[in-house]
Amino acid sequence: MAGADCEPLVSLADFERAAEALLGPQALSYVAGGAGDEITLRENRDAWRRIAIAPRVLVGVGVGQRDPRVTVLGRPRPHPLIIAPMALQRMVHEGGEIATAQAAEATGSVMCLSTLATVSAADVATAAPGASRWFQLYVFADRGVSRPLVAQAVEHGYEALVVTVDVPVLGVRERELRSGVRTSAVPQVPSARAAGARGPLTPGRFDALVDADLSWGDIKRLAAESPLPLLVKGILTAQDALLALENGAAGVIVSNHGGRQLDTVLSGADALPAIVDAVGDRVDVLVDGGIRRGTDVLKALALGAQAVLVGRPCLWGLAVDGAQGVQRVLEILLAEFDVALALTGARSAAALNGSFLTRAPWVEWQR
Ligand SMILES: Cc1cc2nc3c(=O)[nH]c(=O)nc-3n(C[C@H](O)[C@H](O)[C@H](O)COP(=O)(O)O)c2cc1C
Repeated sequence: MAGADCEPLVSLADFERAAEALLGPQALSYVAGGAGDEITLRENRDAWRRIAIAPRVLVGVGVGQRDPRVTVLGRPRPHPLIIAPMALQRMVHEGGEIATAQAAEATGSVMCLSTLATVSAADVATAAPGASRWFQLYVFADRGVSRPLVAQAVEHGYEALVVTVDVPVLGVRERELRSGVRTSAVPQVPSARAAGARGPLTPGRFDALVDADLSWGDIKRLAAESPLPLLVKGILTAQDALLALENGAAGVIVSNHGGRQLDTVLSGADALPAIVDAVGDRVDVLVDGGIRRGTDVLKALALGAQAVLVGRPCLWGLAVDGAQGVQRVLEILLAEFDVALALTGARSAAALNGSFLTRAPWVEWQR
């Protein structure tokens, strides 16, 4: 796969540049933008870079044959990469969520499908039956629409329910406001249509769809009713992680929604340690935000995450070359993770722990 100047795309940053050149200004504002001054958006990447690796050498057997396998929600997974739920993927490429699911299938990654996908959960399942699929739920004010969405996911073999809790209202995303993307014709969203929303998904229409008054009582009910394990996505404090556990969640996703909701909240990397400390191994802890290198994946696991979600890089791959582009992005990240396992002397994902990390002195040098 090559960029506009015909050099091969060898890193996620290469895909980012290629996607920026291909996407129109509206789609680009939607994919790349964050909330407010985009401080959290930048922190999401920078926080991983502030952690240094303390590699061990000459550790012997196993370095020649690394083992990236992890266990998530009690199931073995070939590696820790999960494609984050992202809405409106047909805005980026006509293949949309189907192409993304096919890349998940080809790479053994989990695909988390957004409630606001441009393709139904049933159609994604048919197009990529071998992909492990999770369903992300925005709980709509009209439960008569939310319930059939969950039922459809269950019927079509989705393996977990990811309830996103950091969007009671949409964040203020200035790049989107400037480009006008949300008031233009965006692709059809079957779930929004089912809820009676017509036309583009403006912030006002979005806010009218979702239940802003959702509470822990609703999570408890959903967890009790759901035949699928439930993860709560959008947790940034130990207190809320403990409430998720008490209310029946099987896991939490430490996330600030890719810096798109409340600006100046902590990055995933900075919020993760206190949450891992609080919940221990009683629930799975996953993290997202700014994962761009295999070393970021390694650091997340060493801090106690079971797996990581990768967001925008998958959309860069999708923009560049549909399913194959997403597949290539995931393959690059996996290859980098494999090399990082070898060069830290950790040998396996399961062996990662805090002893492989240290404070980065360059944080002070920059000041
Ligand atoms: C274009 C876009 C759309 C998104 N849509 C959703 C969504 O529908 N549901 C959701 O829970 N999170 C959504 N997210 C947040 C991602 O799931 C994820 O938390 C975030 O993108 C991770 O950060 P990263 O992009 O730096 O990897 C979206 C993110 C982006 C970039």
